[in-house]
This record gives sequence, structure tokens and C-alpha cells, in this order.
Amino acid sequence: MTRMRITDGRPGSTPLPDLDMSTSLAGAELPSPVLTASGCAAAGRELDQFFDVTEIGAVVTKSIMLRPRAGRPTPRMAETPSGMLNSIGLQGPGIDAFLERDLAWLRRRGARAVVSIAGGTVDEYTKLAQRLRHVDGVTAVEVNISCPNVEDRGQVFACDRNAAATVVAAVRRATAPGVPVLAKLSPDVTDIVSIAESVVDAGADGLSMINTLLGMVVDTDTMRPALAGVTGGLSGPAIRPVAVRAVWQVHAALPEVPILGMGGIRTGLDALEFVLAGASAVSVGTVVFHDPAAPLRVAHELQRALGERGFGRFADAVGYAHRPLPPVAEPAAPDHQEAPVEEEA
Ligand SMILES: Cc1cc2nc3c(=O)[nH]c(=O)nc-3n(C[C@H](O)[C@H](O)[C@H](O)COP(=O)(O)O)c2cc1C
Repeated sequence: MTRMRITDGRPGSTPLPDLDMSTSLAGAELPSPVLTASGCAAAGRELDQFFDVTEIGAVVTKSIMLRPRAGRPTPRMAETPSGMLNSIGLQGPGIDAFLERDLAWLRRRGARAVVSIAGGTVDEYTKLAQRLRHVDGVTAVEVNISCPNVEDRGQVFACDRNAAATVVAAVRRATAPGVPVLAKLSPDVTDIVSIAESVVDAGADGLSMINTLLGMVVDTDTMRPALAGVTGGLSGPAIRPVAVRAVWQVHAALPEVPILGMGGIRTGLDALEFVLAGASAVSVGTVVFHDPAAPLRVAHELQRALGERGFGRFADAVGYAHRPLPPVAEPAAPDHQEAPVEEEA
């Protein structure tokens, strides 16, 4: 097994261009704008065999809940064209084991940790944030609001602007003032800008977008749903245009709000799309399952792509696709009148 190094770039390739790749994500200062995506890299320990996890922006941990959870029955993964469908159901060890084992490991390792939390009630989210308040090594809290609200007929928090705002306000209140709170938005809404505005008004310091899209696969052999949970979350390259559109729309409406963009990023150029659309950092998810070194590789490719386009600082590329079009030059007045073309009979 080969472990990638920051100086590697691509194996056998020229050195990386000299570029300031640091970014500020809602107040968190990161040396690199490329992070992992929640649920696709556990707590980073396995990835550390493939590359040094301290060299990426941060490890975004699997959403953690208050108590241990077994997740949904199998099968809970299905392949789709250019993507994958999962219904893992937030399997995890619960906050106590997470703090003792996973967060402690990240801290010892010197990696930055964005801790993702999830709950079924506002009270659960609040308790999770309170637990995190008293531990070191939390770079930011990401609030996964794509969870059913058990107090409202299972309505997903992220799909209702009031419910989303209530959760985010509670987490913001319970989180240490210097620790940014990122609200993770779902694309399964009619107007993502309205949800973004609502959670920002409620105190979110930044936005992570997007979570998976709700999808379904029917197995044509068994003639039943392919997933035991029937529906699942679609991720991977299939969702990238949806994600880029969401980042574009939210950055246009709220240009001051930092965005952690994700959805189908496989290469540095994919990441660049998000940055140009308005993301201050990106998360790399599904691709990690077949290329565990992808977060560092994407960071190198992004650095190269920015250098090739003449950027000296990553920060200058954020939202660059929104710049106004250059004025169209007036066509010069013709100095002689063209003879009209004779129409054919
Ligand atoms: C297997 C799997 C598990 C995931 N688990 C979580 C999770 O625990 N919390 C969360 O907020 N998002 C979770 N996600 C969503 C990802 O963090 C990400 O938002 C989404 O997959 C889009 O990025 P990608 O196409 O690069 O994977 C999960 C995605 C996958 C594929």
C-alpha cells in the first residue's frame, strides 16, 4: 500500500504550483479547502492508512447520535448509473464512545475534526451540542438536519424552514461561541434558498450542501425494492449538477455565508466547479469508497487547476463564476451598405 504525501501531486508529476490553499470556513481556519464528507470516511482512522489525514482541511465525521444505533436492515446499498443509493440509517456507537474513541484519536493524531451530529428531536440535538461543548478538538459542528422529526410525524427537519431553524438555533445556543455551526441542507426541497436563509437567520455560521437526494431502485429479478429500507440517499457524480446549482443559488442570495460544497466530487476539476459556484471548501464523499486517497488527490488536482488558471490564492477563486460578464462591444457601424442578397425564386 502506498501512502500519498503532500509533495506527491501526482505520482511522477511536476511539483505543485506555489499557491495559498488556506481557507476560512465560517471562522475555522483550514490549511486546505478539501475535507471528507460525513458518513464516507468514518472518523478518518482508516483513511490515515492511505494518506496523512492532517494534510486535508478536516475530517468530517459520520453523524453521531446520542445513543448507539444498529442502522437499517440489509441490503442497504445499491448501485445506480453514476451514483449509489444508501440507506445505512445512521449506524453508530453513540456520543460517549465517539468522544472516547474517535474524537480522542483525531485529537491525538493532530487532525482537524468537523463533528456531524444528528437527532430525532430538538432536545437530542441540544444534548449532543452540549456534550461537544466541553471537549477539545472540535473545529466545527455540522448539523445533519436530514433526519425525521419524531415529534412531527417523521417530517424531515431539513425540508421545513421552521423546524430546520429551531434545530439550528438550539445547537448554536449550546455550542461554544468560538466553534462554527454548519447547517447541512437537503436538496429535496422546492426552494433551497429559503431554507438557507431560515437557518442563517437562526444562527448558522455556514452551510454544508448538499446531502443525498431521496431515490429508489427496484430489483427487476426479485421484482421488489432493492433496499430493505425501500428508499435511500442518492450520492456520487449523478447528483453533482444538482449540488453545483444549489451552491450557485445560495451563494448568489447569501454571498457572505460560507459554504462547504459537496455532491459527486471525484476530481480537482469537479471541486473547482463548486468553488467557482461559491463554495469556500468542499467535501469528498462517495468516491472514497473506491479511491480512499481521493481527498488528498482532489486537493492536489485542485491546486494544480487553480495554478493553471492563474490564481495565486484559493480564496480568490471562491464564487468567481458569479463575476459580471464583460460588456459586449457595440458592433462597429458598417461603412458601406451590403448589397441585399437576391432571394431565390
Ligand atoms: C454511505 C453514505 C453515508 C452517509 N452518511 C452521512 C451521515 O452520516 N451524515 C450526513 O450528513 N451525510 C451523510 N452522507 C451524505 C454525504 O456526506 C454527502 O453529503 C453526499 O453523499 C454527497 O456527496 P458525495 O456525492 O461526494 O458522496 C452519507 C453518504 C453516503 C454515500
